[in-house]
Amino acid sequence: MCGIVGYVGESKAQDFLVSGLKRLEYRGYDSAGIVTVAPEGEATLIRAKGKITDLERKLVENKKEDTIGIGHTRWATHGEPSEANAHPHQAGPLYMVHNGIIENCKELKKALKGHEFKSDTDSEVLVALINSFYKDGKYPLVNAVVQALKLVQGTYGIAVVSVKNPDEIVVARSGSPLVIGVGHDETLIASDASALVGHTKQAIYLNDGEVAVVKKNSIEIKTLNAEPVSAKVEEIETNLSAIQKGGYDHFLLKEIMEQPDSLTETLRGRVDAENGIVSLGGPGLSEKELRSIQHLIIVGCGTAYHAGMLAAYYIEQFTPEITIETVIASEYRYRQAYIPKNSVAIIVSQSGETADTLACLREIKKQGVKTIGIVNVIGSTIAREVDGGTYVHAGPEISVASTKAFTSQVIAMVMFGITIAQAKGVRTSILKPYVEEIAKLPGEIKQVLASSADDVKKIAGKYKKYDHAIYLGRDTAYPTAMEGALKLKEVSYTDANAYAFGELKHGPLALVDDRFFETAFLPKGMLYEKAISNVQEVLARGGHVIAVTNNQKFDLKVDDVIRINTSLELFVPILMNLISQLFAYYVTVAKGYNVDQPRNLAKSVTVE
Ligand code: M6R
Repeated sequence: MCGIVGYVGESKAQDFLVSGLKRLEYRGYDSAGIVTVAPEGEATLIRAKGKITDLERKLVENKKEDTIGIGHTRWATHGEPSEANAHPHQAGPLYMVHNGIIENCKELKKALKGHEFKSDTDSEVLVALINSFYKDGKYPLVNAVVQALKLVQGTYGIAVVSVKNPDEIVVARSGSPLVIGVGHDETLIASDASALVGHTKQAIYLNDGEVAVVKKNSIEIKTLNAEPVSAKVEEIETNLSAIQKGGYDHFLLKEIMEQPDSLTETLRGRVDAENGIVSLGGPGLSEKELRSIQHLIIVGCGTAYHAGMLAAYYIEQFTPEITIETVIASEYRYRQAYIPKNSVAIIVSQSGETADTLACLREIKKQGVKTIGIVNVIGSTIAREVDGGTYVHAGPEISVASTKAFTSQVIAMVMFGITIAQAKGVRTSILKPYVEEIAKLPGEIKQVLASSADDVKKIAGKYKKYDHAIYLGRDTAYPTAMEGALKLKEVSYTDANAYAFGELKHGPLALVDDRFFETAFLPKGMLYEKAISNVQEVLARGGHVIAVTNNQKFDLKVDDVIRINTSLELFVPILMNLISQLFAYYVTVAKGYNVDQPRNLAKSVTVE
């Protein structure tokens, strides 16, 4: 979603602003802009609809040596994507960039009679409000920002500069992340630490309700109630190679292919396959607390939700007397759900910033329920607000479509489930097969990716002409089907939906015709024969079936078969999901769409 960058120091601000915005491109945006201020107070504002390259074209004629500035990539909420609606927005001597939504902007706007609005955005209302307190420089900027923010309802991460004080940036956050990078004779600002990588390793993560005055050699933080905050400087762990394509054409393919390594990182120091034991440091629950868990609520959105669904199927296989409910965060946050005693909530999020998931976390905490985060981005808001948690350590995920995070999320949750089972005294002989397969999984993923990528590419070429797809599975292959359909629809714009095989006859079977193809996930196991009967029902109605199976003897006459050769039995659906990821990637490349930044989508969804 929207991205913010800022710079104050001794180098050319424009250089960092543009390179920083490029780093944030993956978040999704439709327009961009930067403003820099010269020491004598002249501002240079450049904005463009479209991509950063469109902004760069305009920059050619407007190169400046200014050493302070702010920049933004906008993902439209209020007002269409256009230059006028792009940030920074101006009010008198102030320029501001804003992530989030000002919910009471209509009421605030009514009170701002003197300001002539040039955009349809809620953000312009906020900068005009700040200027109404700043009185064109009569009062300190930070005081004006605080006074304005006290009137605001909604979410914000903001950075404000003034032509009257061209040595400081005022930043503030509530519900939308902001990181301050501490450099030598320079201070940098970003909504996402990846923009800072290569510039500094030292970062301060602003908390909700905090405001900071940022200068080249100082950072002063306080709360909106004027209490001073002593900043904690943290290390940025990401390195440059993790956020570059590393020889791949697209981040999506890089991230799919990275899974043997990213999962290895998830498992590092946590799995003892020989003894069938898992040790997780993060959840922070005592043996007694783990033993008493009777109910798990798993909360997430999109891919994180599917990861939760799949993990739930596994955890209930080996953990006795436990009820697991996997819920969609955007729904659950408004439900009047009763959470029984002895519950623990697992909050799943790659970015750790998803607004609905964060809202759920806060609602659940209000009920006194312990929350455990399964989060990828270190230092993110969810990671900081949960009671305990397990970082999945999958490394930065740049492509909007989530791939490697899914695999790591599922396994991190299964490991948490095993931790509960261990505390409940489940016999090692029951848990050991899971632990052993988890340990083998990175190697099996490597093998499946290497052996199937070319076949999947060929098959994808055949199916790119279809506008409709149905993904089918049952048991652990059902969440796999759901995740496969999501991947295909979000990157290739194919209308793909998933159903549990057993549901076919209750409606979806009516869809089967020449316009559709059906992807059937068929892992060997208890429900294999039943799933085969379901496939036959589809074939009997003229369906075009791609079968994905680990049954080497599979001999049904379907259109295409993708065979997975593996010694694993339990985690075959995770291997099948690799096929879905590759298939979505290759269909999209064949169609010629932007695989890494699908239209209308953003990487981290920080607004409701
Ligand atoms: O950062 P999160 O894991 O909380 O994000 C949740 C969803 O927005 C995300 O998984 C989304 O569905 C992806 N685009 C799926 O590929």
